[in-house]
This record gives sequence, structure tokens and C-alpha cells, in this order.
Amino acid sequence: MVTGGAGFIGSNFVHYLLEKYPDYRVLVFDKLTYAGNLANLADLAGHPRYHFVRGDICDAEAVRAAIRQYDIDTIVNFAAETHVDRSIMDADAFIRTDIYGTYVLLEAVKEFRLERFHQVSTDEVYGEVLEGSSVETDPLRPRSPYAASKAGAEHLVQAYFVTYGLPVTITRGSNNIGPYQYPEKVVPLFITNAIDDLPLPLYGDGTQQRDYQYVLDHCEGIDIVLHHGKPGEAYNLGTGVETRNIDMARLILRLLGKPESLIQFVKDRPGHDRRYSINCDKIKALGWRSRHTFEEALEKTVRWYVEHEEWWRPLKSGEYKEYYRRQYLQR
Ligand code: NAD
Ligand code: DAU
Repeated sequence: MVTGGAGFIGSNFVHYLLEKYPDYRVLVFDKLTYAGNLANLADLAGHPRYHFVRGDICDAEAVRAAIRQYDIDTIVNFAAETHVDRSIMDADAFIRTDIYGTYVLLEAVKEFRLERFHQVSTDEVYGEVLEGSSVETDPLRPRSPYAASKAGAEHLVQAYFVTYGLPVTITRGSNNIGPYQYPEKVVPLFITNAIDDLPLPLYGDGTQQRDYQYVLDHCEGIDIVLHHGKPGEAYNLGTGVETRNIDMARLILRLLGKPESLIQFVKDRPGHDRRYSINCDKIKALGWRSRHTFEEALEKTVRWYVEHEEWWRPLKSGEYKEYYRRQYLQR
């Protein structure tokens, strides 16, 4: 059962799983919030090993019914509110889904004695890392409402391992890029704005750093931890290489043949974490390697958005326009 499987990483993971494991059956359980999109899974309609249930992970009855009906043995939890800027505007849904929803899933894992629960977490739980790199035993010091909600979820997952012995694993991924990412996140936002010759709103001085990884590398890492990770353990998952946002923006413009004058420095994100950096030796010891450099990942991503306007254009209307106005007009 892949919760949040209609979102960006979840839908990539579902495609990856169905291709890699010819005997796996996959149930996507997704509430279809603004970020959930059945177009991400449209090519799977009629696939004999794929099923979809629309449901909320906060709804214990709906979760139980899906587990019973589809005879679930494993849950991989992608379902979450995921955009930091939205969490700064209003954290309510983040607390509900990311924390309470994870609790509901853990209770179901306990009740049905499932074989594995995997929590898809984030490098943001460590908080800002100005020097060096985070290792898995470092304390969690989240600084945004989003990061705090993901850290809260992680603490519950660890507590259910210690208290009830549930078979859980956790991955802490860095920033993903690739097909099907909702255009509120910086890379698809900048690509789609640049295609339309609109400004690229760069927060602060643009020198903040992120470890941008290709989404399928992240999916492969989750797969490896799911099959070879040790229960009760967390694994960092990223390239280990950080890029400044200004350099990412310039490269997007270069790949699209657009002028750097499209970059517009705007008011910074409150509490903006300047840098995340993760040490990934632990997952590498399981045999995982990142297959894409940042440049390769960005090039593939830019090409996908150029070739799939029919996917993203409809998203940049309605609710998105209202969000964009609230988020960027005053900047
Ligand atoms: P996304 O916002 O694209 O998709 C989230 C999905 O969850 C959507 O399909 C949405 O409909 C679903 N969802 C939301 N609330 C739900 C609920 N209450 N019940 C059921 N479904 C619900 O997210 P994403 O970027 O693909 O991230 C997926 C996961 O990976 C999240 O847990 C996120 O914290 C984590 N993560 C993301 C990144 C990244 O760079 N995007 C990096 C590391 C970790
Ligand atoms: O690190 C993993 C996390 O990466 C995930 O857990 C989150 O779900 C995901 O949203 C992402 O969080 P970030 O805050 O790092 O991603 P975002 O794309 O929002 O921003 C990336 C960087 O770009 C960050 O330094 C802020 C900056 N930025 C972002 C936006 C939206 C801008 O300069 N301008 C923008 O308009």
C-alpha cells in the first residue's frame, strides 16, 4: 500500500515498483489533495496489479478497510503535506496529515501485524546545517512547521518500534526533482515560469544550498531500504552534493536559452534554512548509489517539463493562482 501514491515521488515510486517487481500488487491510497493528481498514474489504468482507493490516512476506518480488502502486507508512507511555504501560511493540515495520519497508519500496522512500515521522511528534520553533514544519529532540530511535522511523525515511528516492536524503517531524503512535481516547488516553478518568460522569484540572496537528487534515485534508495534495511533504523538518502539556488536558477535558464534577467530577488522565506547536507554512507553500505549528478538530473527534468506542457499547464490555474498571489504578490 503506497499512501500518497498520486503525488510526485509516490507516483514515480509506484511506476518503479510495478516495473521492477513483476509479482508485486500495488494499492495507491491517496486523499487527492491539491497535490494529488490521477494524471500521474493515468497510464496504469487497467493494469492488472495496480489498484487505487481514494482515502485519508487520518481516517482509521478507511485505512483498515483498504488493508483488509487488498490483503496488505507492507505500507510505504508518502502521504503528507509537503510544501514548506504553505506550512508557514497555515500549518493545520501538516499537523493532521503528517503527524496524526502517521499515527493512524502505525496503529493499523500494529493491529494487522503487517510485515513492514516504511516512513518517507526528509533531511529537513535535522534543521539547518551550516557546516559538515548530518549523520543518522544526529539530533532532530526542525525549524519550519513542515519539518517539525515530519520530525513528529518520525518520533512516533521510532516510538512504535521501541514500544511495540513494529517492523519500521525510515529514509531521510533530500530535495527531489523530476517528472510530475507540482509547480509550487522551486525547480518546476522556475522551469515553467521561465518557459513563459515570467520572473523566477529567488528568495533572499539565493545562496541557500540544497542537495537536489533525481526522483528515481530516491525511489531506488527507498526500495533498497525496504528490502535490505534494518528495522528500527533511519537512512539518509541524497547525492551528498549541495548546489546554491542561484546556480540552480542560472542552469535552468541556460538549459532553456532564457536570459538571467528573469531572476528576481524577493523577500526571504521566514526561518529559511540556509543549508542541508547529509552523509549517505549508511545507505551506500547497503549497495545504493545515486545514478544522476545534479546537472544530469536537472537536464532530464527540464526536458520533461518542456515535453509535457499538457501535464503542468492545467495545474497553474484555479487554486494555484490564488496560492501564487498570496505567496508572491507581497514579495
Ligand atoms: P506531494 O505533495 O507531491 O504529494 C503528496 C501526496 O499525498 C498527494 O498525492 C496527496 O494527495 C497525498 N496526501 C496528502 N494528504 C493526504 C492524506 N491525509 N491522506 C492520504 N493522502 C494524502 O509530495 P512529494 O513531494 O511527492 O513527497 C512525498 C513524501 O516524500 C512526503 O512524505 C514528503 O515529506 C517526502 N519527501 C519529499 C521530498 C521532496 O523533495 N519532494 C524530499 C524528501 C522527502
Ligand atoms: O529537503 C527535502 C525537502 O525539499 C522536502 O522534505 C520538501 O517536501 C520539499 O518541498 C523540499 O523543501 P524545500 O523547502 O527545500 O523546497 P522548495 O522547492 O520549496 O525550495 C527549495 C529552495 O529554493 C529553498 O532554499 C527555498 C528556495 N525557493 C523556493 C521557492 C518555492 C526560492 O528561492 N524561491 C521559491 O519561489
